[in-house]
Amino acid sequence: MKVGILTSGGDAPGINATIRGVGKTAINNYGMQVIGIQNGFSGLLYKDIVELSDQSLSGILNVGGTILGTAREKVFRKMINSPDEKDQEQIKNAYHELELDCLICIGGNGTQRTTWMLSELGLNVVGIPKTIDNDIYGTDVSFGFDTAVNIATDAIDRLHSTASSHRRVMVIELMGHHAGWITLYAGMAGGADIILLPELGFNMKVVIGKIRKRMELGKAYSIVAVAEGVEVPASERPAAYFAREIQEQTGFETRETVLGYIQRGGSPSPYDRNLGTLLGGHAAELIHEGRFGRMVAKLGSQISDVPLSEVAGKLSLVTPNTDLVVQGKRMGISFGIW
Ligand code: F6P
Repeated sequence: MKVGILTSGGDAPGINATIRGVGKTAINNYGMQVIGIQNGFSGLLYKDIVELSDQSLSGILNVGGTILGTAREKVFRKMINSPDEKDQEQIKNAYHELELDCLICIGGNGTQRTTWMLSELGLNVVGIPKTIDNDIYGTDVSFGFDTAVNIATDAIDRLHSTASSHRRVMVIELMGHHAGWITLYAGMAGGADIILLPELGFNMKVVIGKIRKRMELGKAYSIVAVAEGVEVPASERPAAYFAREIQEQTGFETRETVLGYIQRGGSPSPYDRNLGTLLGGHAAELIHEGRFGRMVAKLGSQISDVPLSEVAGKLSLVTPNTDLVVQGKRMGISFGIW
């Protein structure tokens, strides 16, 4: 069998571990031929490919990013949705001209939706969930998330010492697109005093009141973790908006940090390396068994798989009943709401 692998959407630590897991399992356990499709779905259309071997898959387990390159896929998705059948024919022809028996798509929500659409076109596909945001419905966790939380937590830990030295309020903005998972997990692990999530919204009176209360209790500084997806009235980034409002309304010196792409860079955590390895191996197993149109997943303690038709494009978001939200509230950590 000939298997194609592509990576699409934002990069994440652990992609190369996943490519290695798929490739080495397919080659060594099932005797398959494996090709890498470069720069996302456009690489499929333009046959931008590279042969992958056991040798070329060595030495990438701990390497960040993706050896295949990636891209956002608006053009390709437009083609798939196009009412003009010629566009879909072009995609199917590209797949068949490469003589693929299956295409593995490593990506986030958008990618899994595109992968499901390819399945609907009759192509043999398997999806592998990938994102630091951890917002992919159908899996308990995606690789990239653990590494991003480690990076963000280390950043928050470092803010404590400078905030304490200057008796300042520090606001740090973390990634997550429309989801607050990174901010929730890193905020709680890093001991943030206020954690602001897009799913919960905020009341500025509550935020200001919490800062004031801490100062009245003699707490010399405060740490505010805010997710980039929190909607703020001004055209400012959330971190700048909250830092300005807090300083203006409390008079306390406040500074902001936007951690940004640091959360996506560098070597994956051991957890993400092993999660990617296990998910990749399961994808190869699904192909060997001829079970296509599915997304591999971590469900509880098990590596499993779910139908793309049931999960594609759906979001997994924080709720008020998420365990760390409930526990944080019980401890007096503010989520910016009454
Ligand atoms: O989906 C991962 C992510 O890092 C989000 O957290 C972030 O909002 C987005 O990608 C940034 O997209 P881009 O890399 O296209 O700027």
